[in-house]
Amino acid sequence: NRYAVIMAGGVGSRFWPVSKTSHPKQFHDMLGTGKTLLQQTFARVNKSIPQDNIFILTNNIYEDLVKQQLEDIKDFQIVLEPAMRNTAPCILLAALKIKAINPNASMVVAPSDHWIEDEAAFARNLDQAFKVCDDQEALVTLGIQPSFPNTGYGYIKFEDTDKDELSKSVIKFTEKPDYETAKRFLAEGNYLWNAGIFIWNVSYILKQFEQYQPEMFQLFAKAENIYNTPSERDFIQSNYSKSANISIDYAILEPSTSVRCIPAEFDWNDLGTWGSLHDKLEKDSENNAVINAEVILNHCNNNIIRTENGKIVVLQRLNDYIVVEDEKVLVIAPKSDEQDIKKLRQQAIEKF
Ligand code: GDD
Ligand code: MG
Repeated sequence: NRYAVIMAGGVGSRFWPVSKTSHPKQFHDMLGTGKTLLQQTFARVNKSIPQDNIFILTNNIYEDLVKQQLEDIKDFQIVLEPAMRNTAPCILLAALKIKAINPNASMVVAPSDHWIEDEAAFARNLDQAFKVCDDQEALVTLGIQPSFPNTGYGYIKFEDTDKDELSKSVIKFTEKPDYETAKRFLAEGNYLWNAGIFIWNVSYILKQFEQYQPEMFQLFAKAENIYNTPSERDFIQSNYSKSANISIDYAILEPSTSVRCIPAEFDWNDLGTWGSLHDKLEKDSENNAVINAEVILNHCNNNIIRTENGKIVVLQRLNDYIVVEDEKVLVIAPKSDEQDIKKLRQQAIEKF
């Protein structure tokens, strides 16, 4: 009864220019392991979920990339979105589709942009989360011990009364707080980061959509009997863009009163920015990470450098910088401004 949904429709804008709309980060081998992030995610999930029970949700324009990278995937396992509407509508569609296949199903929702090394610990936590859902109506998230006031994550305030209990009751879920709020959360102590990995019963998440996103629910649930039939694709293609553009975090997790959290036993990194990638790559003795380049680095520390075709990069007295390019664009920016790359990308798209 266990199913998985891999979300692979984002554009990864803070990894620009390497991640781009035509080829976002989840379809790149960002870590130099020989596998793309999507392939790694699929393999990780497949340790717990049978191959045929795994669905990929992505935009129309990435259909070929998905098929190239996951050779054994069947057509019915790919759900294509004609527009970018963030994660809430994509998860609702996935739930409706899985319900049509198995009304008693439970599902894990996994983003495709994560680094998780300890796959055995991940599988253990996943199994625990599914068990929590067997026993109660809950939306289970995996929580990560926060290390700094990151404003790009969801924060989970949990109740720690029963130390032995597997999952903690969540008092409040706050998506992407501002810096001051995030600092306060860290000082208070009983907060975890939302890893963005969710586990729930399909029937229960559908009830929650009906309660908290009634319009979106009506839009997609009115056609209940078309999911997993030959008419599914046409229906989605003509109706998807009518949906609100909202993430599951704002749409369901924040308003819901039945969120529970399992503190993750594994190390985790949301490969969201060049800095987070730098953390995970091998570094030289001056803490520089170099991907696909030949380098001469004099008095240079803590940089991430990447070229498109193995170029020679010569740098003098440069610290804490991102130096990255694709075939058309070269970006040089301090690592401390990594969140701004999203805006820089927008400016460049508008201008050129
Ligand atoms: N199919 C589909 N369609 N997938 C999408 C879409 C879409 O329109 N938009 C984003 N995704 C995919 C991305 O490719 C990624 O794998 C995943 O959904 C999450 O989207 P992000 O855009 O990366 O979310 P985030 O990182 O800002 O925030 C989420 O993840 C954080 C942890 O990584 C939230 O859940 C936060 O609360 C969480 O802390
Ligand atoms: Mg992310």
